[in-house]
Amino acid sequence: MSEPYDRLLRATADLPAPCAILDGPALATNTHDLVRRAGGVPVRVASKSVRVRDLLDRTLAHDGFAGLMTYSLAESVWLADLGHDDLLLAYPTADAAALRDLVASEQRLAAITLMVDSVEHLDLLDALIGTTDHPPIRLCLDVDCSLRVGPLHLGVRRSPVRTPQDATAVAAAIAARPGFELVGVMFYDAQVAGLPDTSPAIRLVKKRSNDDLAERRSAVVDAVRRHADLQLVNAGGTGSLEVTGTDPSITELTAGSGLFMPTLFDRYDAFHARPAAYYALSVVRRPTDDVVTLFSGGYTASGPAKASRAPSPVWPDGLSLIGSEGAGEVQTPVKGAAARTLRLGDRVLMRHAKAGEMCERFDRVALVDAAGDVELLPTYRGEGKNFG
Ligand SMILES: Cc1ncc(COP(=O)(O)O)c(C=O)c1O
Repeated sequence: MSEPYDRLLRATADLPAPCAILDGPALATNTHDLVRRAGGVPVRVASKSVRVRDLLDRTLAHDGFAGLMTYSLAESVWLADLGHDDLLLAYPTADAAALRDLVASEQRLAAITLMVDSVEHLDLLDALIGTTDHPPIRLCLDVDCSLRVGPLHLGVRRSPVRTPQDATAVAAAIAARPGFELVGVMFYDAQVAGLPDTSPAIRLVKKRSNDDLAERRSAVVDAVRRHADLQLVNAGGTGSLEVTGTDPSITELTAGSGLFMPTLFDRYDAFHARPAAYYALSVVRRPTDDVVTLFSGGYTASGPAKASRAPSPVWPDGLSLIGSEGAGEVQTPVKGAAARTLRLGDRVLMRHAKAGEMCERFDRVALVDAAGDVELLPTYRGEGKNFG
């Protein structure tokens, strides 16, 4: 058997399967690689792409990382109460209870920055909180980074704010509104950072997007600065660090998936993914000579329901899912010559298509070091936390 699979399977053989496994040396390499690729710009860690608090803390302890990008306000309040003081909540919230928790504490208000993209968001926050009599809530303005080519929209559907004029309108409204303080601007270039380089057309979209954003980002930032004392300009993701990091108008980058390097990050031109996250499944039956069936394992990733979102068997080499069944709710058949060598009770290693989502399936992850020693770390789920 080859490295790292032999080491990972031996180290976790006594843990009940399914079990989540992290390859410590690969994780360390990926951590350093993110910092190198960011070229001196501080990297904010995307918590959704990790969902293991210990690992977030350990990553933040490395030079080159600063602050967390969180995904839920309840999560942000939890992390602020645990001592995190730099939490950029990257998605708008409509959670009234968490908002009341936020305004009840100056420490939380100082630590957490909320995301908005419209005056409607300000109205919603005011309505949900029920009073403007609180110290200012820190806000960040999310700017749409999609590429428009004629009627084509290439990128995600998030913010309606696109131009310096759009941004000025929201920034001016925030400045005029009691209870809020605009401290940041965020640009997430999903069609560059989150799209593998699988065709010449995609490479062209990325090139056009990067040219568009290089101009648009600085124009938007200049416009917003006329109305706000900006403390942060955030941009990028695992797939775009080296190009986004060269823009002088940004102050920080974000990355998370680059720590685990799930299969959706396998095919980028700018970097080489070193997989660090796996899960092990047990062989429980053998329907035919070249097919074995594994217990559980149907951990399909979010996003468009395509083959790229399915998990991939990676060890033993040469196994694949069966098209008619895929990865199942409690049974996952895999086929290939290697199936003939597997016995009932043996284990197969899988990779998830996405990073943090895998952790929603497990209470803990087994972090395996170079010597094969195991440290068990609780996931958010293992800490009893589920933030959606
Ligand atoms: C706002 C935002 N920034 C950055 C990222 C990049 O995260 P990752 O590095 O895990 O791909 C994402 C991912 O979806 C995001 O939504």
